[in-house]
Amino acid sequence: MRAPGESRRLADMNANRNEIDHVALCDGNTIPQLGLGTYKMDDVQARSAVRYALEVGYRHIDTASLYGNERGVGCGLDDAISDGIVTREDVFVTTKVWNDAQTAEATRKSVRDSLDRMALDYADLVLVHWPVAGQGTFAECFDTLLELKQEGLIRSVGVANFYPEVLDQLSEVPVVNQIELHPQFPQNEQVADDRHRGIVTQAWSPIGRATYLDNSPIADIAAEVGKTPAQVAIRWHLQRGIVAIPKSANRERIRENFEVTDFELTDAHMATIASMARADGRMSADPREFGNE
Ligand SMILES: NC(=O)c1ccc[n+]([C@@H]2O[C@H](COP(=O)([O-])OP(=O)(O)OC[C@H]3O[C@@H](n4cnc5c(N)ncnc54)[C@H](OP(=O)(O)O)[C@@H]3O)[C@@H](O)[C@H]2O)c1
Repeated sequence: MRAPGESRRLADMNANRNEIDHVALCDGNTIPQLGLGTYKMDDVQARSAVRYALEVGYRHIDTASLYGNERGVGCGLDDAISDGIVTREDVFVTTKVWNDAQTAEATRKSVRDSLDRMALDYADLVLVHWPVAGQGTFAECFDTLLELKQEGLIRSVGVANFYPEVLDQLSEVPVVNQIELHPQFPQNEQVADDRHRGIVTQAWSPIGRATYLDNSPIADIAAEVGKTPAQVAIRWHLQRGIVAIPKSANRERIRENFEVTDFELTDAHMATIASMARADGRMSADPREFGNE
C-alpha cells in the first residue's frame, strides 16, 4: 500500500526531472524505457520529429530498414548533435533487418546499408524484424548480428515478433523482444516468457495506434488524473516494466507522449486497464503466420 501523499511526492520529484528510467539488458547494456517510434514517417518527417524529440528529452529512437526513413532519422540526430542538444553516445538508436535479408550475406549488407543511411558508426540495437519461421533463416540472421556485434557495428542484438518456439531455436538470449502490445492486447504470457528468459519486452503500437483509447476506461482514468488517454497508456507500460516506443510525427503529441513521469497509476487503475484485454485484441499480423502464407 502506498502511504497517503506518496504519489504526489513522486510527482513533485519527477516534475523537475522528467527523466525516463533505463532498463538493464542481459548483455550489460541499458535501454531508455521510452523511445520514439518512426513507422510511416518519411525522411522529412523523421528528420524533424527526431530532432524535436531529442530536444524534448527522448534518448531512444526506433527505426527499421523497412521504414525507408533511416536517412531522415540520421539527419535528425545529426541536427541535434550540431545544435548541442545531445552527443551520439546519449542516444539509443534501434534498427531492424527485414525478412528478405536474413541470410548471413544479406544481413551484413542490410546492417551496413542502414548505418550508411543513418551516417552512424554503430547501432545501439539491431533486431531480426520477424521470425518468418517457414523461411528457416532467422537463426542465421541472429547469429550474423552477433558477429557484427563482435566487430563493433552493433552494441546489442535483439528480435521482434518472436514467440517461445522460435526463441528456443536461438543460440543466445536476445536482449529484447519487440512485440505488438497495448491495453487490449497485453500479451501477458509472452511478457512472462520473455521475463523468464531474461529478455526485456518492448511494446510496439503501445497506444493501439490511437484507435480505441478515447472510448475506453482509460479515458475515465485520464480525466481523473488530469492526463490524456495516450499518457495513461504509456504510463501503464512503464509501470509494467515494459519499454514503449509510441510514434508521433506531431510536435504536440511527441511532447505529450514524453510527459509521463509526473503522475502514477494506482493498483486499481492498473487493474482497470488489465480488464480491457480482449481475445481478439491483436491489431496487426500474427507472427506465427506473417511471411509464411
Ligand atoms: N517490430 C515491429 O514489427 C513493429 C511493428 C509496428 C511498429 N513498430 C514500431 O513501434 C512504433 C509504434 O507503433 P505504431 O506506430 O504502430 O503505433 P502507436 O505508437 O501505438 O500509434 C501511432 C499512432 O497514434 C497517433 N498518436 C501518437 N501519439 C498520440 C497521442 N498522444 N494522441 C493521439 N494520437 C496519437 C499517431 O499519429 P501522429 O503521428 O499524427 O501523432 C499515429 O497515428 C512504430 O512507429 C515502430 O517504430 C514495430
